[in-house]
Amino acid sequence: AAAEKGGYDFFMLKEIAEQPAALADTLLGHLDGGRIVLDEQRLTDDDLRDVDKVFVVACGTAYNAGLLAKYAIEHWTRLPVEVELASEFRYRDPVLDRSTLVVAISQSGETADTLEAVRHAKGQKARVLAICNTNGAQIPRESDAVLYTHAGPEIGVASTKCFLAQIVAAYLVGLALAQARGTKYTDEVAREFAAMEAMSDAVTEVLGTMEPVGELARSLAHHDTILFIGRHVGYPVALEGALKLKELAYIHAEGFAAGELKHGPIALIEDGLPVIIVMPSADGRAILHSKMVSNIREIQARGARTIVICEEDDLSARSVADHFIPIPKVPTLLQPLVSTVPLQVFAATVAQERGYDVDKPRNLAKSVTVE
Ligand code: G6P
Repeated sequence: AAAEKGGYDFFMLKEIAEQPAALADTLLGHLDGGRIVLDEQRLTDDDLRDVDKVFVVACGTAYNAGLLAKYAIEHWTRLPVEVELASEFRYRDPVLDRSTLVVAISQSGETADTLEAVRHAKGQKARVLAICNTNGAQIPRESDAVLYTHAGPEIGVASTKCFLAQIVAAYLVGLALAQARGTKYTDEVAREFAAMEAMSDAVTEVLGTMEPVGELARSLAHHDTILFIGRHVGYPVALEGALKLKELAYIHAEGFAAGELKHGPIALIEDGLPVIIVMPSADGRAILHSKMVSNIREIQARGARTIVICEEDDLSARSVADHFIPIPKVPTLLQPLVSTVPLQVFAATVAQERGYDVDKPRNLAKSVTVE
């Protein structure tokens, strides 16, 4: 068993380390002669041109990947994108028709609610594209088309490498739609694709700096509550960081949109409460960055212990950080691929420090095939 884990104590730790390869393998072959190729052409460019609305449906970590997809797909295609938990979507009577594209994201391809959401969408004549990590699973079998993530088998119950692979796969769908609809030119698509390819190295770089994150996690492992905040694409990352900590360490953890702090969550801040903040790039949209710096000031003034994930040279964020976790400078939409990694390591280390089985958290299953 130790050999299977490649020298790591847990499969999850091995899977975190495999993320650069998961990204590279998922992208491999999807840019051909300047065009994004999604699948074996079951969804043609004509099909994609007809799309006037996109739904992304998923559960758990795959849902957080879906939330990220919305930022990229709307930005690149100007199509409206709704992201919904499969368990809500399927019972809600959503408005779907032939020109709706439903993207179902599922690592296992067997999650009951996601499968039923696919069946409902097909019943309403929507086109369904599955993003899946498991060859020949039920969800891809019942979908019109499938885009496989090539992350390799994921054994740890808490999803890690599949999350990163799902993000780039969903972004590929966005680029394919943009290309078919003419909202992006071939050279722009090629540039975005190359930027995604470069993320393997960026993730490798982050993985090399996880030692202090482990130390920080051990020092905070006794806390009962840890909060996460983010803005724009940092918001789904905050949700994913909180989900990982709940799943693995059984700590009350919640992610919030930073702009919502004043609408409730700030009331939770008390002396010494750790808050993990996902900072947007200092070179990106300046307004996002400066809003986040003021958010950090507000919670620090109320006693929060601020742990800030930001770029190394982001001095204004560092000036309000009790602890800071550096990440490389990458394009805004791709930042989640690097900022999620320390949060995975953080949750796994807290769980280990508390003596829990990181691969098999209590009450959870790798794939939820009953409702
Ligand atoms: C379970 C797993 C999660 C996963 C979710 C969705 O809750 O513990 O890690 O994100 O199911 O699974 P899927 O296979 O549909 O991606």
